[in-house]
Amino acid sequence: MTKIINVNPENVNEDILQSSDEIKLAGDIIRNGGLVAFPTETVYGLGGNALFADSSMKIYAAKGRPSDNPLIVHISEIDEVYDVAEEVSDKAGQLMEKYWPGPLTLIFKKKAVVPKETTGGLDTVAVRLPNHSIARALIKAAGVPIAAPSANTSGRPSPTRAEHVIEDLSGKIDAIIDGGSVGIGLESTIVDMTEEVPTLLRPGFYTKKMIEDVVGVCKADPVVFAKEKPVDVKPKAPGMKYRHYAPKGQLTIVYGNKDRVISKINELIIGHKENNEKVLVIATAETKDCYLCDNVLCVGERSRKGDIASHLFGVLREADDLGAEYIYSESFENDSLGEAIMNRLSKAAGYNYIEV
Ligand code: TXA
Ligand code: MG
Repeated sequence: MTKIINVNPENVNEDILQSSDEIKLAGDIIRNGGLVAFPTETVYGLGGNALFADSSMKIYAAKGRPSDNPLIVHISEIDEVYDVAEEVSDKAGQLMEKYWPGPLTLIFKKKAVVPKETTGGLDTVAVRLPNHSIARALIKAAGVPIAAPSANTSGRPSPTRAEHVIEDLSGKIDAIIDGGSVGIGLESTIVDMTEEVPTLLRPGFYTKKMIEDVVGVCKADPVVFAKEKPVDVKPKAPGMKYRHYAPKGQLTIVYGNKDRVISKINELIIGHKENNEKVLVIATAETKDCYLCDNVLCVGERSRKGDIASHLFGVLREADDLGAEYIYSESFENDSLGEAIMNRLSKAAGYNYIEV
C-alpha cells in the first residue's frame, strides 16, 4: 500500500513542515530505507536514502530504470555538498551561490560515503539543492541526503502532478507527498563541474547563457541541442541516451512557418482519418482552432515559454490517456527556455520530425 500524504501547497513554511507529524514520518521512511515521492520546483522526485545502496536498488526497481543511469543526490543546505562531493571548484561555488537553491544540478567527484549504486557505477555524483519547501523539509526530516530521479516509470514523461506519480508508482513505493502542481515542469539543468571548463549535460530552466554569465565559457554535450538522432556519440549524462518522455503514440515534430505547419498537419490528419487512425495535435493558444481534428491539446501561448514548459509533460501524458496513435506537435524557438523545451520534445519524438 502506498500512503498518500496531502500537504497544502498554499500553506508551506519549511520550518513548520519539518516538524509536522507527516513530514517526520516521511523522513523516517527514507532514513530507514523506504521510498517516498515528493514535489520539487521542477518535477516530482522518487526519494530514497542516498547513502544506502539498497535504497538506490529499490528506486531502480520501482521505476524499471537501468541501474547504470545515476541518481541525483538532493541536499537541503549549501554546505551539505561537502558531505558527498570532493573537489568543489571556485566556479562551482559561484554557480551554487547564484543559482542554489534552484533547478541546477552539478556533477562532482564523489566521496566514498556515496555508494556506487547511487551513482550508477560512476566516480562522480550529481548534487542538487531544490527550491521547494516540501522537498527541503523532507531532506531535513530524513537527516540524510536524498537520491531522487524523476518519479515516473522509466521512459514515460516526468510527473508534474501527484496524480502522475500515482498513475506510475502506486503500490510500488511507501508514500507519495501530494503538494499540488510543480512550478517549472521540466527537470533541472545539469552541468558537469569535474573539468576546468564546465559542460552542460542537460538544459533546463537555467540556460547555457545563464551558466556562462556566471562562469564564462561552458561547453555543451553534443546530444544537448541535437535535432537529428545523435549517432555514435555517448552522452555524458547516461540518462540522455535512453528513449525518454515518450508517449505511446508516434510523435512527430513539424518545423517551419506557422501557416505551412498548419496545412501540413491538416494534410496528415486527413490521411490518418481515412485510415481510421486516431490522431492528435499539440498546438498553442494561437493555432489550436486551425486543425481539422477533434483531439487538439493546447500547451499554452507561444510567447509564454514558462507555461509551455510547465504543461508539456502533462500534455504528453494526456495524449496517452486519449489513446492517440499519431501525434503531431508544433515546434518552438530554440532560445531561452525553448532550449530545454525542444530538447525534451525531440527526445519524446525519438528525433522524428518533418520540415516544411
Ligand atoms: O529536476 C530534476 O533534476 C529532477 C528532480 C526530482 O530533482 N530529477 C531528475 O532526475 O530529473 P533523473 O534521474 O530523472 O535525471 C537525472 C539525470 C540523468 O540523465 C542522469 O544520467 C544524470 O542526471 N546524472 C546523474 N548523475 C550523473 C553523473 N554522476 N554524471 C553524469 N550524469 C549524471
Ligand atoms: Mg527522469
